[in-house]
Amino acid sequence: MAILKIIKENDPILRKQSRYVDRISLRVERLIDDMIETLHEAEGAGLAAVQVGVLKRVVIIEVEEGNTIVLINPEIIDREGTQNNVEGCLSIPEKWGMTDRPATVTVKALDRNGSEFTVTGSELLARAICHELDHLNGVLYTDNVIRMLTAEEVEELRNGGDSE
Ligand code: NI
Repeated sequence: MAILKIIKENDPILRKQSRYVDRISLRVERLIDDMIETLHEAEGAGLAAVQVGVLKRVVIIEVEEGNTIVLINPEIIDREGTQNNVEGCLSIPEKWGMTDRPATVTVKALDRNGSEFTVTGSELLARAICHELDHLNGVLYTDNVIRMLTAEEVEELRNGGDSE
């Protein structure tokens, strides 16, 4: 396994569409393992393959320590309600903004064995699913942000606020 470099916001690759995975090859399996290690190292809640420079529809989400969700070719099949909360991105370091997201989403995807499954998530999990799936379509949260947090608010967040 290896820790990969996380691509930052001005790189044009982050604006590209990721491609569907047609076969879970050894290369894809290695990508998944490396992405999990990279996410742990960065202490993030989620990572899309494009953020490590690979245009494949692969996403890793871990909003609860030890509960790693691997989503291949994910698709949101249901969404309900709205939530407004703080959002950040490993590709846009040291910044946070307020976004509107669905309160609950259900996503359908393949797992690393190629079996289809669904996950329903609320709160941070719903936000992370939406955020990572947007990455697969070249969308960053800053595209739809309601407002970015001020330096003072970021400071408050660091001192024990709700960080993600
Ligand atoms: Ni992100």
